[in-house]
Parts: sequence; C-alpha cells; structure tokens
Amino acid sequence: MSQIGLDFGSSNAQESGTDAVRARIDWLVVELNRHNHLYHVLDAAEIDDQDYDRLFRELETLEADHPAFLRSDSPTQRVGGAPVDGLEKFEHRVPMLSLANAFDDEELREFETRLRRMLGDTAPDHFDYIVEPKFDGLAMELVYEGGDLVAAGTRGDGYVGENVIHNMRTVRTVPLRLPEGCPPYLSVRGEVIFDLEGFATMNHRRERDGQSPFKNPRNAAAGTVRQLDPAVAAGRPLQFFAHSAGEGLTAPSHGELINHLKAQGFQTASLTQRCTGIDAVLDAIAAIGAHRNTLPYEIDGAVVKVDSVALQEALGFVTRSPRWAIAFKYPAPVVETRLLEVAFQVGRTGVVTPVAIMEPVMVGGVTVTHATLHNEHQMVRKPEYCGGLRVGDRVQVKRAGDVIPRVEAVVDEVGRDQRAKVTFPVECPDCDAELVREENPKEPEKVIIRCPNNLGCQAQVEAGLKHFASRLAMDIDGLGDKLVDQLVAAQLIRTPSDLYRLTLVQLAGLERMAEKSATNLLGSLNESKSRPFERVLFGLGIRHVGEAVARDLASHFGGIDALMEASEEALQAVDGVGPEIANSLSRWFSTEANAAEIAALRAQGVEFRETASQAPKGPLVGKTVVITGTLPTMGRKEAAELIREAGGKVTGSVSAKTDFLVAGAAAGSKLAKAISLGVPVLDEEALKAMVSP
Ligand code: IVH
Repeated sequence: MSQIGLDFGSSNAQESGTDAVRARIDWLVVELNRHNHLYHVLDAAEIDDQDYDRLFRELETLEADHPAFLRSDSPTQRVGGAPVDGLEKFEHRVPMLSLANAFDDEELREFETRLRRMLGDTAPDHFDYIVEPKFDGLAMELVYEGGDLVAAGTRGDGYVGENVIHNMRTVRTVPLRLPEGCPPYLSVRGEVIFDLEGFATMNHRRERDGQSPFKNPRNAAAGTVRQLDPAVAAGRPLQFFAHSAGEGLTAPSHGELINHLKAQGFQTASLTQRCTGIDAVLDAIAAIGAHRNTLPYEIDGAVVKVDSVALQEALGFVTRSPRWAIAFKYPAPVVETRLLEVAFQVGRTGVVTPVAIMEPVMVGGVTVTHATLHNEHQMVRKPEYCGGLRVGDRVQVKRAGDVIPRVEAVVDEVGRDQRAKVTFPVECPDCDAELVREENPKEPEKVIIRCPNNLGCQAQVEAGLKHFASRLAMDIDGLGDKLVDQLVAAQLIRTPSDLYRLTLVQLAGLERMAEKSATNLLGSLNESKSRPFERVLFGLGIRHVGEAVARDLASHFGGIDALMEASEEALQAVDGVGPEIANSLSRWFSTEANAAEIAALRAQGVEFRETASQAPKGPLVGKTVVITGTLPTMGRKEAAELIREAGGKVTGSVSAKTDFLVAGAAAGSKLAKAISLGVPVLDEEALKAMVSP
C-alpha cells in the first residue's frame, strides 16, 4: 500500500511536534481499524500481516511515548485491559425477545397462514421474507454513543443482562468506533459465536491441562464472555454477527437495515437471502442447511423474517416473540462414514459399552471419530443396524446437541454379509475376567454386560479414580483424565488414597509435568481433603450411589461412621433408598478392601466433613425449584447445586408446590405445566441474580 511507505516514521514524529504525533496516531488508528474491518469482516485484506504488524507496532510505540493521545478506539486497546471485579448489570432499553420455532415445512406454511389471517385485508398478495442462518451462539447487544462503543450487554432475562464490554472490545469483528455520520445513539443486536476450529484446539489444550473441556461452542462462547479478565477473551476466537437493531437505526425493510448495519462496519450473516412466498423460503432454508457442515461456526436453524418493516409493525408481538419472524430448527445433523473397529470400553462400575471407531468425519462442525453403540442388544438387534454391525460398514452418525454422537444406522451395501459380524466379548477386554450378563426380561433393550472384577480390573480402577477427581465429586483441579492415565501407568496410584501420598518429586518426574503444575496439583489435592462428606461419598463410586443419593445419605446419617454401621433396614429408612441401593452400600462397606480404603483416606487427612448438622441457610431456604431445558452457560447439575447451596430443594416435576421453574432452551412439558399452574418461570440469569448474595 502506498501509505505504508510514507516517510513519516515514529522517529520523525518526535521531531515534528506534538500536533504531528497526534495526527499520525489518528491516521494509524483509522487505517488499522480499516484494515481490521477489511480482513475480519469483509475477508478482503489489502495488506499482508507483516505490514499490518509494522503499523501496529508503530502505533504502540507512539502511544507509549504520548499516552495523552491514546484513543479509546485504538486497536491496541482491544487487548490488555485490566480485569474487572465483577459484572455490572446491563438494562436493555428495548427488551431482547426470543423467536417462535418451526420444525417442519408444515409449520412454516402455518406461519404464513397466520400472517395472512392477522393482517386480514391489509395482507399483501405475496409476502417478501429475509431468510438468515440462526447462529447457535450467545445473544448480545452493543451500545454506541457518539459513535463509541460504550456497553455490551448479554441477553439475561431479556430485560436485564450483564455488561461484558471489557470482553467484547477484544472481538475483532466488533467496531470500537462507528464511521462519521453514524447515529448519535445506536444499539445493535447480534450473536457472539465461537469459531469451530478454535474450539477444537482449545478443548484439546484444556484436556491436556486437566481442565474439563467445554461441551460445545455455544457454552464456550458464554463462558468466555463472562470472564472477568479480558485477556482470556482476547486469546479466544470469538466473533460477532449483527442481525438486528434495538434503537438508532430504522429502515423500510429488514434487508435495508442489514445494509445499514454493514455500512456501520458490522459483520452480518453471509447466507442471507430475500425470498417471495413461503415456497421460496423453504428453498432458502434448504440451501442454508446444505452449507451447514461447511460453515466455520455452528448454526442450529434459519430465521425467517417478514421483510417489510411496515408489516412488522402491523403484526407486532405476542408475549415475548415477534409475530413477524420464526426460527426454523434443523434436525440434528447426520453424516456417513466407515466403521473401522468396535472397541469395548469398561466403565467405572464394570459396565462394558461398545464404541464405534470410525474414519474421522465432520458432524455439525466437529470432527468425530468415536460414537456410542449403547449395549449389546442395540449392537446386534437394532433394526437400523441391518442384522448386526460388521467392520467396514458404512454408518450414519448423528450428533444431537450436547450428547455424544451415536451411530444411527448402517447402510445395507451389497456384499456386506461377506464380512463377519462384530460380536460382544465374553471376557473383560481389560482384565480377562468372565463377563456377567444382567438381563432385564421386561426391557431386553436395557441389557447390561459387566466385568465383576471391580478392584482387580485396571480399566475400572482408572475410571474410578477419574470419577473421584471429577468436578462434582472431589473437584481436584489439574487432575484430568490424561494425568490419571499417566499416574496409573507409572504405578504411582491405584486407589484414591494413593493420590494423597503423591510427592513433588514423583509428580515433577512425570513427562510433560512442570514443577509449578506439580506444586499446584499438590495444593488442589490438599484442598480437596476438606470436601463435604456427601462429595467424598459420591466420589467413592459405589454402585447406585449417585449425587442425589449421596446427599440424602449424608444428611440422614451425618457422617461416615454412622453410615458404615447402618443396617440395610436402617439404610432403607432414607428417602429414595430402596433395597437395591441399601444392598449395594452394605456390600461395598463390608468388603475388606473398601473399609481399608476409607481408613487410608482418613489417615491421609480426608475429613469426610459433616454438613448435616448445619441449619440450612441462603436465599432459597424453603423453596422448591424445578429445572428444565438447556441453560445457556450451566449444566442442569450445576444449576441444581447452585440452588441447593442457596438452601433450596430441587425436584423433578412441576406441581402446585413448586415455587418456581428455571427454564432454558427447548423447555417442553414442564414449562407448559408451570405456566398452566401459574408457577413463576425464571431463566438462568434470573436464578443467578436470586442466589447471589
Ligand atoms: S432476530 C425478536 N436473527 O435467536 C428477536 N435472532 O430465539 C429477533 N438468533 O437469542 C432476533 N440468529 O440472538 C435473529 N439471524 C438471527 C439470529 C437470531 C440467532 C438468536 C437471537 C436470540 C434467539 C431468538
């Protein structure tokens, strides 16, 4: 570029007086922001990275020497802002609404029929629509005053969210300053999304470092945007796509509004189409759907909007969604690949699960190599598996939301009967013990095949240790699955109590383990010793003793001694504990090796801290809460824990006794029931506000 060769370097600037420095800084900021926009939004770079970096460094140097001239829209200010102490509330001046859903063509046709009915005589002969991808991200409002970005609000409950401007400033596709002639006040709405490739890389790194991976890109975006330290967001590949305006921009049609947003420097959806009539809409939705697997970010549907703003105004809103728009949800993506092998995985309680290992394939933007085949019955009898799986089969794989991908069906190719069927092993693939079948005559599809050699089976020992260290049990920070494998392989641990005997020398001697990480791990192990009794109990991995049972047992018996002494009858006095659980507990505690392990944990300082005696405290004492749907940033378990910590009780079904329902995306019958009973409905944000001190 010609400007780059300007004979006005930073050294000359010193001599040319402060006006010239200021002018140079101004020029650099505008020019760098222009290149940023060209590169990140328009995908039409005019200069290469090296030239960009040179200008950037020049600006950094000038700003460091002349801090008074630092501009808030300087690209150097995207990164390196100071961490904030907490997130401030952000009030939406115009509420952020949601969209009604359609799941098939029929429902879309009904949408148009409704439009016609509502508009009556004023309905046009043909409706014009805009069809856009529906980003599977996090809703966000950006506020500009006098052209400067001054706030960035999450959706929250639609009325009040949180201001996360410190993180949104780091997103390259968010303009820090709008061009000359921009509206004096502008609020732009859109979606923050996490780049898929960056997502995969980040999760690999997290797993390697013993952190739990994010479930999906949407959760990763939500988790990143709420960080207090902007350095975290600056290092992650977030993007912002604008799709509507709150205040400040008006246009006669949605299509023109999108053009205005582009003119203000925003990135908008690339596959947007204008269509006349619902048939054209269906084609456009199919066309977007066909691109779904090739996009660098996740979309979960298409949004159909009536183009004319006059018609939008005439149609108005119903409760919390506009009547003039609808979201079409695509079915979970299915792709084909080839089955390379079936592995048999031994879980914590010895259950053997068949796992398909396949040629890598992209499903919904994520590379998949493994998928569950559930159990033997499914593997052999599932009709879609065409008489049983055979290595080399072409298989259809589906990834539905957060769940592990599964093999939906086998393609019945000619000649596949020449290849041998995959059979379930009779011996444990890990320790060779003879496997035991637990058949359920009423529900044959639920057959369980188990290795009975619990303590002698390495696979079960490893899985048990991973469970013990996991977040909902002892929550040992830095002790991820890979490290457990490494420690077991090095014969440093076999039981949970071995973890507390690890030394700095042992840990630092491991491959890829720096001394600092080793010290940190010893710190987290030490800290975990004071986890409450119920967590330790859950962590022991006793069959049928899940989180809820562990909690009920802990609050009934108070401590480990009383629990160990309890008869099966006494155990069954606990709400929710039947003969099966009672038997499992008494068998576990009467096994000598297990009793010895409890003693060893105690000797290592694990406290089995009693919690029952404390009177419940917190803002939700006496409240019964039900959780439904997918919450934006938390798993349901996490939300339940939050409620319990605040003194509330979590139950599974909505009744007149329910104090409120916490509902996330895709909430179904529970939401309907809550509404019909007049039970108040909150979203995650409102729940958090309620429990925060
Ligand atoms: S327009 C009145 N367009 O979907 C609501 N929303 O259920 C106007 N979303 O959280 C929203 N992609 O952030 C619109 N192309 C798109 C969208 C989109 C994703 C999100 C939106 C909101 C949710 C609505």
